[in-house]
Amino acid sequence: MKTIKSIFTVLAVAVLAISVMSMVSAQPKKGKAWEVPAKYKDMKNAVKTSAASIEAGAALYKKNCASCHGKTGLGDGTKAKMLETFPGDFSSAGFQGQTDGTLFYQTKMGRDEMPKYDKKIEDVDIWNMLNYIRSLKK
Ligand code: HEC
Repeated sequence: MKTIKSIFTVLAVAVLAISVMSMVSAQPKKGKAWEVPAKYKDMKNAVKTSAASIEAGAALYKKNCASCHGKTGLGDGTKAKMLETFPGDFSSAGFQGQTDGTLFYQTKMGRDEMPKYDKKIEDVDIWNMLNYIRSLKK
């Protein structure tokens, strides 16, 4: 009776350990810091923010970005679970603290799982989307 009990205990601990491990490894990794060329980093937003720009940006964001980044930019879009890298939390101070030019570069040039929108979306519309993304700040 005692042996059966201890076998069960060992099994229970093993099952628990395996499930905890798989939960941890299922977490997407955080992307490393971006290296942004100086030419982009200090770039100023070419589109002054306004209700019209935010509205245009929101529509484009919904169509092109929300599947991964989530409707409100929390990184919880429907495709997010399949990503290896966490796409970022657009409402966070850390994200919002980056320069306009940095966000422009990340969107235009992409990296790994983040698609490149150069040639797909015009610069003026990237700025419109960034005006929308700026409005997601907590
Ligand atoms: C297929 C999924 C996917 C789509 C669609 C997508 N992204 Fe991303 N995005 C990512 C991932 C993954 C990262 C993190 C990449 C890394 O760190 O290497 C990322 C990173 C970013 C970053 C940098 C985040 C940070 O923390 O600094 C910005 C800005 C960004 N994306 C904007 C956009 C915009 C704007 C669109 C739509 C035009 C878009 N993304 C569409 C997956 C996506």
